[in-house]
Amino acid sequence: MTVEFTQLPGVEDAVAGFSLPQDLAFGQVAAPVMFSAEYSDGQWHDAQLEPYGPISIIPTARSLQFAESVFEGMKAYRAPGMAPHLFRPEVNCRRFAGSAERLGMPPVPEDLFMTGLAAVTQACADFVPTSSGASLYLRPVLFSTEAGFTVANSKSFRFMITASPSSAYTSGPMKVLIERKDVRAARGGIGYAKAGANYAAAMRATTNAVARGFSVALWLDPINNRMIEELSGMNFFAVIDGALHTPPIGDSIIAGVTRDSIIRLAKDAGIEVQERAMPIDELTADLESGRCRELFATGTAAIVVPIHMLGDADGNKWTPPETTICQQLRSELLDIQERRAPDRFDWLKIL
Ligand SMILES: Cc1ncc(COP(=O)(O)O)c(C=O)c1O
Repeated sequence: MTVEFTQLPGVEDAVAGFSLPQDLAFGQVAAPVMFSAEYSDGQWHDAQLEPYGPISIIPTARSLQFAESVFEGMKAYRAPGMAPHLFRPEVNCRRFAGSAERLGMPPVPEDLFMTGLAAVTQACADFVPTSSGASLYLRPVLFSTEAGFTVANSKSFRFMITASPSSAYTSGPMKVLIERKDVRAARGGIGYAKAGANYAAAMRATTNAVARGFSVALWLDPINNRMIEELSGMNFFAVIDGALHTPPIGDSIIAGVTRDSIIRLAKDAGIEVQERAMPIDELTADLESGRCRELFATGTAAIVVPIHMLGDADGNKWTPPETTICQQLRSELLDIQERRAPDRFDWLKIL
């Protein structure tokens, strides 16, 4: 079912005046349109497609004071000569609703979510890049618009979708630094929600990792600082004795759509998959003994990327020797996402 929405004046001109940049990066260019809907008095209303641009928000809005804000990250793809399509959008919709529920916000109904995605993608159909690994990155966000100096649940919200024609998030292998000091998420906290606050909690570690020549931090569990959790924007995998190992989903980890897809593809290819608690000291021992041959990360933005160095705060470094399973699973996923292979799991939604 679709929801009725208004197309505001200026959308056609904004689209006509836009052209794809020569060199696509990730998330550097905003698409010319955005979708918006308001929530108040228990109802969603004023769904509209409008030209991309600044919005006005009251400075005391609770989203600004108390981080009442959740988001999603997903992609629209286009194979040459075909209509654009989405990848497992219903999973993002469910996760978005779960994130909203955790923060006491009203979930965006599936029909409104899908209508917004289709409206933005169809308006930008000519700007969905067709080269492999590139896409129209879509960023749904839900935030409180209610003014308030006191900590209380808001009653008014705005749902928006912006987009960016993008290449893949990172093109090369990553260097990952084990974070030994900060924690990203607490037990019983909001770590499993795609809440802006989780990303704010991760910023200092990212800054430190980059200052030390790494790309990103690897988070450990918040209780004992021992079990591997995930990266700041990606899930974590290791190939040990030929099997794929990844930490189990819990309340401090994002249940990645890519993670789930890679697990399904791996099982389908006859690769053993173990979702299990992974102590960091055990992993580094497996890297030293050669039992662990590969490390890689998964996420919508980055797709599937090899980790070619794992580093520790004390200066120790490990370099996994292979990328074979990572590359195999990356190709299989991209072949489905980019319609070179049959959609055998019914993952694509053609628009
Ligand atoms: C913290 C975190 N972990 C994992 C992921 C991977 O999730 P997905 O594969 O759904 O993009 C993301 C990205 O959304 C993330 O932000």
